[in-house]
Amino acid sequence: MAIVSSHQPPGDRPHRAQKKAKDHGASPKKQDTPLLSAQALPEDTPSRNEETIRPQSLGDYIGQRDLKDVLHIAIQAAQTRQECLDHLLLYGPPGLGKTTIALILAAEMGVNCKVASAPALERPRDIVGLLVNLQPGDILFIDEIHRLSRMTEELLYPAMEDFRIDITIGKHQSARSRSLSLNRFTLVGATTRAGALTSPLRDRFGLIQRLRFYEPEELSQIILRTAGILDTPITADAALEIARRSRGTPRIANRLLKRVRDYAAVKHNGEISVAIAEQALELFHVDPGGLDWTDRRLLTVMIETYQGGPVGVDALAAATGEDSQTIEEVYEPYLMQMGYVQRTPRGRMATPQAWHHLGYRPPDEQLPLLS
Ligand SMILES: Nc1ncnc2c1ncn2[C@@H]1O[C@H](COP(=O)(O)OP(=O)(O)O)[C@@H](O)[C@H]1O
Ligand SMILES: [Mg+2]
Repeated sequence: MAIVSSHQPPGDRPHRAQKKAKDHGASPKKQDTPLLSAQALPEDTPSRNEETIRPQSLGDYIGQRDLKDVLHIAIQAAQTRQECLDHLLLYGPPGLGKTTIALILAAEMGVNCKVASAPALERPRDIVGLLVNLQPGDILFIDEIHRLSRMTEELLYPAMEDFRIDITIGKHQSARSRSLSLNRFTLVGATTRAGALTSPLRDRFGLIQRLRFYEPEELSQIILRTAGILDTPITADAALEIARRSRGTPRIANRLLKRVRDYAAVKHNGEISVAIAEQALELFHVDPGGLDWTDRRLLTVMIETYQGGPVGVDALAAATGEDSQTIEEVYEPYLMQMGYVQRTPRGRMATPQAWHHLGYRPPDEQLPLLS
């Protein structure tokens, strides 16, 4: 079973992307615009390009200043004391650079990074196999760590705390318990839902860091950097235009850049100008606010059917044919972050910005005109 890879060079694995899509109950309809999905898609999996695009050092990692400051200090302190790094928990929405950080840490510390995904560590022997094979100082990266099975999680406690595991050998009456000592290692856990971690697990991390959505200026730097690697000419304005539509997410920024690059190659001379970027993104139904077809549909239903709300998520799901969990986990976070949707105790409301964005006049502004 291809669950674990010694990562040289690293990357997201295809089966994870599929798993995630299934877990989110994404309806088939949604697949027509996966462009703006922050989840890793099959096309984001390690190809030569993908791995050259991924920043390899903290110096190349754009944005996330607070996180980088904390990591710089942790790395220097660990190196001075010749110890390994403290266990680190990274949390935040998909596509913001969690996996990248784990790989960079390994590179900066000059150690290996073993990459695993929690759903693939179901049986105790999966995690035991990983742990006993770690070299001194190695990084073990566990993605989606909130999804560890209970047994696996309990094996991890002494491993994280005392670098040992307690295993049972044999069955029934002849079963004996043995304690195995492990090399010192650093666990880097990543999760999109820090709240879903059990507190004993959370408490065993020395560092807990949140990743934030990126500002358009930061994403535009990322786009310029990627364009340089891909040898694609692009103007600074065009990079910013793509950045604004990238939902604060580097993975989406790089994906949109690649689509615009294809468009520019086919319809133009390969150079990306603002006009070319706008045309391409319009063709792909990515609007100037980074909303796709489904986002716009949700807002339209809130405005047209519910006069802007409040409306409950289940009613919204029924009216749009989307799954309510998908609305809550996939669509709403960005709509709320952009200030298009507000959650109130009585339900969701479309904000005046949402009305304007879709070309409607909000009710407050209609009244004076009516009188
Ligand atoms: N700070 C950053 N600077 C430049 N590129 C980044 C940064 N963060 C992420 N990326 C790019 O975005 C892609 C997705 O990042 P990844 O670490 O896989 O996200 P996550 O693990 O949080 O889902 C990476 O392949 C990388 O190229
Ligand atoms: Mg990842």
